[in-house]
Amino acid sequence: MKVTVVGAGAVGATCADNIARKELCTELVLLDIKEGLAEGKAQDMMQTAALLGFDTKIVGSTNDYAKTAGSDVVVITSGIPRKPGMTREELIGTNAGIVKGVCENILKYSPNTIIIVISNPMDTMTYLALTSTGLPKNRIIGMGGTLDSSRFKYQLSQHLGCSPSDLNAVVVGGHGDTTMIPLIRHATWNSAPVSNFLSADQQKQIVNDTMVGGATLTKLIGTSAWYAPGAAGAALVESIVRDQKKLFTCCVSLDGEYGQKDICLGVPVTIGRNGWEKVLDFTLNADEQAEFNKSAEAVRSMNEVLKTL
Ligand code: 2OP
Repeated sequence: MKVTVVGAGAVGATCADNIARKELCTELVLLDIKEGLAEGKAQDMMQTAALLGFDTKIVGSTNDYAKTAGSDVVVITSGIPRKPGMTREELIGTNAGIVKGVCENILKYSPNTIIIVISNPMDTMTYLALTSTGLPKNRIIGMGGTLDSSRFKYQLSQHLGCSPSDLNAVVVGGHGDTTMIPLIRHATWNSAPVSNFLSADQQKQIVNDTMVGGATLTKLIGTSAWYAPGAAGAALVESIVRDQKKLFTCCVSLDGEYGQKDICLGVPVTIGRNGWEKVLDFTLNADEQAEFNKSAEAVRSMNEVLKTL
């Protein structure tokens, strides 16, 4: 099994580190446009192999896509991150060109790959990856909802005083501060609805804190976060290479599911060896569906911007 991570910045390197530690592949390529960066980080990670006990071979590459040939999965993290006060959407002008170029290069050497998109604005970059590569829709997966759902579980766990891994909770819709929809009505602590244990005010607070989860970290750190985004990318790689068919919220091409078409948006899907395999219908109520439609409209207008670039 071979995996490539494009972009050796904080998110890409963290994703690669998680992939190597879990030995998700025999060969892992880390590629970056900046001279020496990927080689340096790959070597640094390889120097943890004896300490951590993994056998994945990590290869660094300065923009030489020949080294990525035959990748089963490619994770795209390239592009500029946001600075405090910026929205993810403001990155579109720069990142669209970068992501399009990366997709072209990847396809030359790995025409059968599955692509995971992390670059922002993630919903529009996923749509761009889908339309520019022409790959079957199941092989294009946007990571956003996987990260947002994990942040949602973290916020819930803080109020419930429980383990985040005992929670089932998903965020659907877009990966934007105002477009994501934490589905608190569907969230459970093991099988009990979280609403049994949380006041209406607490639930509202949790939803709000989840929606601005990324922006809060950007303000604290001075740039966008990387531990959870990198781990979310690696969790998707794991479900693919081990054919786990785990349920994640991912940004995928919709063809009527959740009432939307010609858009990539976050919905619950199973992830396995064929990419995203099945969309699950969580049966939204009228309010949730209205929010989902609103989120779709916002993402659709961002997708329209692609035509003007
Ligand atoms: C975040 O939300 C990087 O979009 C990513 O932190």
